[in-house]
Amino acid sequence: MAKIVLDRVDKVYAGGVKAVDGLDLEIRDGEFMVLVGPSGCGKSTALRMIAGLEEISGGKISIGEQVVNDLAPKDRDIAMVFQNYALYPHMTVEQNLAFGLKLRGTPKAEIRQKVLEAAKMLGLEQFLGRKPAALSGGQRQRVAMGRAIVREPQAFLMDEPLSNLDAKLRVSMRASLSQLHDRLGVTTVYVTHDQVEAMTLGSRVCVLREGRLQQVDTPQRLFDNPVNLFVAGFIGSPAMNFVSAELVRGDGGAHVAFAGYTLPVPDATLTDKPGLQNYFGRQVILGIRPSDFEDAAHANPDWAPMAVKSTVTEELGSEINVIFAIDAPPVEHKDTADLAEDAAEGESEAIPLIDNRALWTARVNSRSHVRPGQQVDLAVDTKRLHFFDLASGLAIGHPDAGGPAPADTVTDGLRK
Ligand SMILES: Nc1ncnc2c1ncn2[C@@H]1O[C@H](COP(=O)(O)OP(=O)(O)OP(=O)(O)O)[C@@H](O)[C@H]1O
Ligand SMILES: [Mg+2]
Repeated sequence: MAKIVLDRVDKVYAGGVKAVDGLDLEIRDGEFMVLVGPSGCGKSTALRMIAGLEEISGGKISIGEQVVNDLAPKDRDIAMVFQNYALYPHMTVEQNLAFGLKLRGTPKAEIRQKVLEAAKMLGLEQFLGRKPAALSGGQRQRVAMGRAIVREPQAFLMDEPLSNLDAKLRVSMRASLSQLHDRLGVTTVYVTHDQVEAMTLGSRVCVLREGRLQQVDTPQRLFDNPVNLFVAGFIGSPAMNFVSAELVRGDGGAHVAFAGYTLPVPDATLTDKPGLQNYFGRQVILGIRPSDFEDAAHANPDWAPMAVKSTVTEELGSEINVIFAIDAPPVEHKDTADLAEDAAEGESEAIPLIDNRALWTARVNSRSHVRPGQQVDLAVDTKRLHFFDLASGLAIGHPDAGGPAPADTVTDGLRK
């Protein structure tokens, strides 16, 4: 086992594409680190550089105490698992599992023992005599994992290993992967573009965008304290709601006003987010997570009321998503535009529009009696409002977002 450190790592491909740009990342010994981000953000490139399958254009990568920049992949003591599991079709599961060890001249008895151990761990014992063609997708993927496990490497590198599986299987494989990691404690770097997968698997999650690190933190902290609009919109499903709003200091204290609504800003928020008071009388981007809404009838009495007219309701059994239009246009910012573009390519929903009005989502209690087309009294947990600088898109008062900067002087405050 080993820690993996990327120090100002760059990758420029032959065509001049800068796929990874000054990436600093420390993956701790035994950690499960997930790299996540939209298609083309450089996740696979970063992983392949750690594996040694891709030369690095600048910076330094170390595994354990050793700088591996010039080390061949086979000498890095890592095992990779890919999306297409590439099993040998003419070999049985047992032979597939044993193959790598056999190549390295491991004694027969030891091979047998390691293969049986891995098969047991992965629930593959009854399939050892079968060929891959006679296995389900999930079973094949487990064989691919098994091949990595028997080698007992210093680290596992996995590039979207579950993306060929159907949704249900993916969920159960995720759980097995987590268990496996708990049991083996091997440093793992896992690439996915699926933020739900990232959040459920990662000890920490590293969000990349256009080759640059946006934020690396635990899933909960990414969700609670995103560093910028991009991370805020990327992490969380349904996505965070955004609107341009004015921060005002009135008689009754601080408020934020948008689309005909006024929500109080608690004193604690002003204390927690240093610099937010510099924005009084100015426009900010307000963000509210769907899960920070509730049907007023079921909400904590401290939450602020917000009456809306529902457009659509999605009843999911455990909760209801209330979708409503607010009387304000969607936020136009490079960060949200990139997210919309990514959503349009992928399976997740695009940021929707009605007459150029932003559509918001509130997640409410399944016992709520909301109906489409009806007036709904919602309540908002104002302790969990998010504020972003209009120009830079950085979260105001976030420790990693740099000091409070006046909006008119910041043109591109994102971390480079
Ligand atoms: N061999 C290559 N030559 C030139 N450009 C490349 C090469 N491989 C990748 N790229 C480019 O580098 C960027 C990052 O690619 P990469 O495959 O790392 O993205 P990714 O985050 O893994 O995306 P996905 O989620 O689609 O797998 C993209 O713009 C891609 O087009
Ligand atoms: Mg990729």
